[in-house]
Amino acid sequence: MIKKYDFLVIGSGIAGMSFALKVADKGKVAILCKTNLEEANTYYAQGGIASVTKPTDKFEHHIEDTLIAGDGICDKEVVKMVIENGPAQIKELVNWGVDFDRNEDGNFDLHKEGGHSDFRILHHKDNTGAEVQVSLIDRIKNHPNIDIYDQHFAIEIITQHHLGQLIKHTTPNIECYGAYVLDIRTHHVHTFLSKITMVATGGIGNIYESTSNPPVATGDGISMVYRAKGLVEDMEFVQFHPTTLYNPGDRPSFLITEAMRGYGAVLKNKKGEEFMEKYDKRGSLAPRDIVARAIDNEMKISGESHVYLDVTHKNAEETKAHFPNIYKKCLEVGIDITKQYIPVVPAAHYFCGGIKVDMNARTTIKNLYAAGECSRTGLHGANRLASNSLLEAIVYADAAAKDSLKIIGNIDWNDRIPEWNDEGTSLNEEMVLITQSVKEVNQIMNSYVGIVRSNLRLKRAYDRLELLYKETENLFQHSVVSKELCELRNIINTAYLVIKFASQRKESRGLHYTIDYPKKNDHFSLY
Ligand code: FAD
Ligand code: SIN
Repeated sequence: MIKKYDFLVIGSGIAGMSFALKVADKGKVAILCKTNLEEANTYYAQGGIASVTKPTDKFEHHIEDTLIAGDGICDKEVVKMVIENGPAQIKELVNWGVDFDRNEDGNFDLHKEGGHSDFRILHHKDNTGAEVQVSLIDRIKNHPNIDIYDQHFAIEIITQHHLGQLIKHTTPNIECYGAYVLDIRTHHVHTFLSKITMVATGGIGNIYESTSNPPVATGDGISMVYRAKGLVEDMEFVQFHPTTLYNPGDRPSFLITEAMRGYGAVLKNKKGEEFMEKYDKRGSLAPRDIVARAIDNEMKISGESHVYLDVTHKNAEETKAHFPNIYKKCLEVGIDITKQYIPVVPAAHYFCGGIKVDMNARTTIKNLYAAGECSRTGLHGANRLASNSLLEAIVYADAAAKDSLKIIGNIDWNDRIPEWNDEGTSLNEEMVLITQSVKEVNQIMNSYVGIVRSNLRLKRAYDRLELLYKETENLFQHSVVSKELCELRNIINTAYLVIKFASQRKESRGLHYTIDYPKKNDHFSLY
C-alpha cells in the first residue's frame, strides 16, 4: 500500500518527536518506531541535558569543555551553534511539559558530570529521559496532523536506485522519496512517499555484547543511509560508559549515571583504593574515554571482572533522593548503595559518528535530514562530553524543521516509485540463522573492537565479519523480509563501518585507542 505524507519521521526519540512537533502545523506527518513509542535511548537517559542556564556559567566554558572532551577534532562552529541555541530549546522542552528539577528558590537544580567545569546538567531526578519521552509522546498523540505508526520498521530509504538507476557514493544529486516500511503486525511492506524524510533512528549499542542501549539501537538509519550512498563519518568513535552495573546476564546493562560521580561518588578497586588519580588529575570526573580506559586497565591488571563505585560516604537520605531509581535497582540485586560499594564495568553507550549532516541537519542526500544519535554533526569530535547528546538532538531537530519548512514548497511526491519487490523470496523458518549471527557479531565487536584496539584485532574482526556479511546478504536476497533479519543486516553493516574507520585511523585520539599507534598525530590526514 502507498501512503503519502509531507514529512516522514523515522524514530520516536527526542530527535524524531521534537522535529515532528516543530513541523506538524505546516503539513501531514507520519512518525514511525519499530516497537513502541517509549522504547528509545531517550527513555533511558539518566543524567540530563547540558546547557548554560545560570548567570555564573558562560557559553565559552561549555564550549571549552566540549572542545577538550572532543580531543581536537570538534567542528568549532557547530559547537558554538549548539551550545548557544541550548537555552531556547530547553525553554521549548519546558513549554512542552518537561519538568526539570528545581531548587527551593525556583532555579534549576543543576548536576555536574565528567569533563564539565561547572554544574550545568538539567535533570529530572535520575530519570530525565523518561520524563522527556513521556512529555513528548503526550504532545505528539494530541497533534491532529501527526499519524503514529508503532511496530513499523523502516527497511530502506527510497532513492533513484529504486527507479532502476545505478547509484554510487560519488553520484551527484541523489534524492530521497520516502522509505519502504515493514508493518511488523501484518508483515506487509508499505511504500511511504514523503517530500521530506527525517532519519532519527538513534544509536548502535547492540552491535556490542554489553551495552547500556535498549534493543532498538541497531544502527538502522546509519546503515540505510550508507546503503543509499549517503556519507557517514567518525564511525570509529564508540563511547563506552565507564559505569554500568556489573550484573552478568543483564541486557541492556543498567547505567549508574555519571552524575553520581559529580555528586561525590569515587571509583575504587577491590582493595578499596582510589585509582583514578594515577591516570588523570581530574580523578573520577575525568572525561569518559579516560575513565573507561583506566577501568579497563585496572581490570586487566587485577584480573577482576569489574571495579567499584563508592557513594557510602555521602548522606544516605540525600543519595536516595537524588538517585531513587539507581537505589531501587541496586537494592533489587542485593546492594544497598548507601552502605555498600556498587560493582561497575564499562559498556558500549553512545555513538559519536554517523550520518554526515551540515548545520541544517541536511544529509548528503537531497530532501533527507538526520538528527540525534544517528547523525554526525561535528559537535562531539572524538569523544562526546556527557549530556551533550540530548542537547544536540533538540538543537538539530529545530534546525532541520526550520530548513525543511523553507524548501518543502518546492518538492512534490515522486509517483513513479514501485512497490516493494519480494519476488523469489520464501519464509525463513530457521530463526537460529539470525540469532546466532547476532551473537557472533556481538562477540567479535566486544573482543576485538572495544576500548583498546590493535591492527591485529581489527583485521581479525574484519575477516570474521566478512563471512557473516556474505551469509546474511544471501539470506536477505532469498527470504521474506523480517525485522530480525533487517536488524542483523544493519548490525553487520554498522559493525563493518566501525571496523573500517578504526582501521584507517592510524593514531590514538579520544575514544579510538590503538596499541599500534598509541599517540595522537595532528598531521594525520583524515580531515
Ligand atoms: P532514540 O531516542 O534512540 O530513538 C530512536 C528511535 O528510532 C526509536 O523510536 C526506534 O524505535 C526508532 N527506530 C530505530 N530504527 C528504526 C527503524 N528501522 N524503523 C523504525 N523506527 C526505528 N544523553 C544525554 O545527553 N544525557 C543523558 O543523561 C544520557 N543518558 C543516557 C543513558 C542511557 C542508558 C543511554 C542508553 C543513553 C543516554 N544518553 C544520554 C544518550 C541519549 O539518550 C541518546 O543519544 C538520545 O536519546 C538519542 O535520541 P534519538 O532521538 O537520536 O534516538
Ligand atoms: C549518564 O547519566 O551518565 C549518562 C549521560 C550521558 O550519556 O550523556
